[in-house]
Amino acid sequence: MLPTLLPFVLLFLTSPGHVSAQQCRLKAGFQAYPTGNPAQTPFTVSSSPTSTGTSPQPSASASSANATAFSYGTDIIRGVNLGGWFVLEPWITPSIFENTNNTNIVDEYTFGQMQSSDVALSALKAHWETWITEDDFKDIKAAGLNHVRIPLGFWSVPMTSADSNYTTSVSPFISGAWPYLLQALDWANENGLHVLLDLHGAPGSQNGFDNSGERGSANWANNDTNIPRTLDVIRYIAGQVSEKVNIIELLNEPAGWVSSIDTAIGPYWQDGYSTVREATGTGVQVMIGDAFLGVQNWENFLMPPAAENVIMDYHQYQIFNYDQLELSEAQHINYSCQFIDSLVPYAKSNLNTITGEWSTAITDCAKWLNGRNVGARWDGTFASGEPTFGNCTGWTGNMSTFSDDYKTFLRQYWEAQVQIGESIQGWIYWTWKVRV
Ligand SMILES: *[C@@H]1O[C@H](CO)[C@@H](O)[C@H](O)[C@H]1NC(C)=O
Ligand SMILES: *[C@@H]1O[C@H](CO)[C@@H](O)[C@H](O)[C@H]1NC(C)=O
Ligand SMILES: *[C@@H]1O[C@H](CO)[C@@H](O)[C@H](O)[C@H]1NC(C)=O
Ligand SMILES: *[C@@H]1O[C@H](CO)[C@@H](O)[C@H](O)[C@H]1NC(C)=O
Ligand SMILES: *[C@@H]1O[C@H](CO)[C@@H](O)[C@H](O)[C@H]1NC(C)=O
Ligand SMILES: *[C@@H]1O[C@H](CO)[C@@H](O)[C@H](O)[C@H]1NC(C)=O
Ligand SMILES: *[C@@H]1O[C@H](CO)[C@@H](O)[C@H](O)[C@H]1NC(C)=O
Repeated sequence: MLPTLLPFVLLFLTSPGHVSAQQCRLKAGFQAYPTGNPAQTPFTVSSSPTSTGTSPQPSASASSANATAFSYGTDIIRGVNLGGWFVLEPWITPSIFENTNNTNIVDEYTFGQMQSSDVALSALKAHWETWITEDDFKDIKAAGLNHVRIPLGFWSVPMTSADSNYTTSVSPFISGAWPYLLQALDWANENGLHVLLDLHGAPGSQNGFDNSGERGSANWANNDTNIPRTLDVIRYIAGQVSEKVNIIELLNEPAGWVSSIDTAIGPYWQDGYSTVREATGTGVQVMIGDAFLGVQNWENFLMPPAAENVIMDYHQYQIFNYDQLELSEAQHINYSCQFIDSLVPYAKSNLNTITGEWSTAITDCAKWLNGRNVGARWDGTFASGEPTFGNCTGWTGNMSTFSDDYKTFLRQYWEAQVQIGESIQGWIYWTWKVRV
């Protein structure tokens, strides 16, 4: 395993704050594109974070540490996702899926459904115990970051019939991750990292992606009970851990292109907001997402005085359709920079906004990125009769196979996307590690 795509050390901007899309392109070397010189950087490399004045000192001896304050809207969120830990993703940990000897196991749902629960639980426990350890939190802190975003599936939230009038069965999902989450929250807080706890999988699946736990259709809003049940999950989370997290994200990437979800998502954000406030008061930040509808779809939404301390989460990848894959390296940077023109005005007159997921990938070559047993658009193994862009050699996996030019580009693409996040209220990279 290796920490993915974080090989370019750290990134403290010489001049954080708002930049224009044009400055973003220039800073990222879009105009005068240097090659073969990965050491050249316009950034100050730092091994210690810029001071927020509020970060606690690490104190490994403390137990059960609570979250400390962070000045949202003033200080910049700089973070990384802990993907593939409490919500399995085949591309992040292929071996967990390969070790089942069952090619029909493609997500966490089928992981629980298609093998004995003893076998599944013991594999999951081994994973929860080892995939991320306290050393990772120390490394994340040492890298100068101030937040971790932790994806969690609803099936890991240990509700009883006292917590919900709906079923508390999560079958065939395997529960048991909750104590590991609690441990993670302590490690984060003890090591001076703020936590964004992100509900990444909801009953029925909010997007049909394997990373929601259940690959296939987005049935979350097709069932009368899924949404109120999800609100019960949010109430439980808020009641149990709001002292230990700084931000609760109500739901990751609901599929706004599905009409039932498009209809349901606005009311869900409002009800979820109220649910958190009723459970815990106003201390914790509440995060919503644009549901792939664009931030402009959420003008004047959950704004004061109706709501406070709400953050918008915007995600950006440029690898899941052919039009984006065909962009040149420079065009990818240009494409990213243009989001400054939409995100900055929104963040100024609406909600604090972050880029809560993005990466430096420009291909979909990583094995099973599109799902277990699914190929890549890049090399034509995803579908026939579509454009192809080359083979996948040298684009993914061990970076010892990357050319110097590619590494230079990856750094520049990183810098451009950091510029975007620094121009609003922050950024969180996807993801801390993958197993190659
Ligand atoms: C954490 O916060 C809770 C609720 O305010 C409080 O009861 C508890 O003592 C705090 N724990 C620590 C270690 O400060
Ligand atoms: C998968 O097959 C290997 C090799 O036959 C075997 O050692 C292993 O126990 C099998 N795993 C499971 C979960 O059945
Ligand atoms: C279950 O329903 C009853 C009756 O409507 C209500 O009083 C109670 O608050 C509900 N419980 C939960 C956990 O929502
Ligand atoms: C909704 O989903 C729950 C849990 O999966 C199931 O028990 C229930 O029958 C479903 N209800 C409808 C109306 O489909
Ligand atoms: C840069 O992006 C903008 C906005 O998408 C586009 O109009 C412009 O043509 C792009 N420029 C280049 C050189 O790709
Ligand atoms: C992959 O493409 C490169 C560049 O076109 C070529 O040199 C290499 O031989 C190809 N590798 C394979 C395994 O086809
Ligand atoms: C990456 O490749 C280098 C050079 O071939 C090798 O030493 C290293 O072990 C590889 N790393 C992984 C994680 O496979």
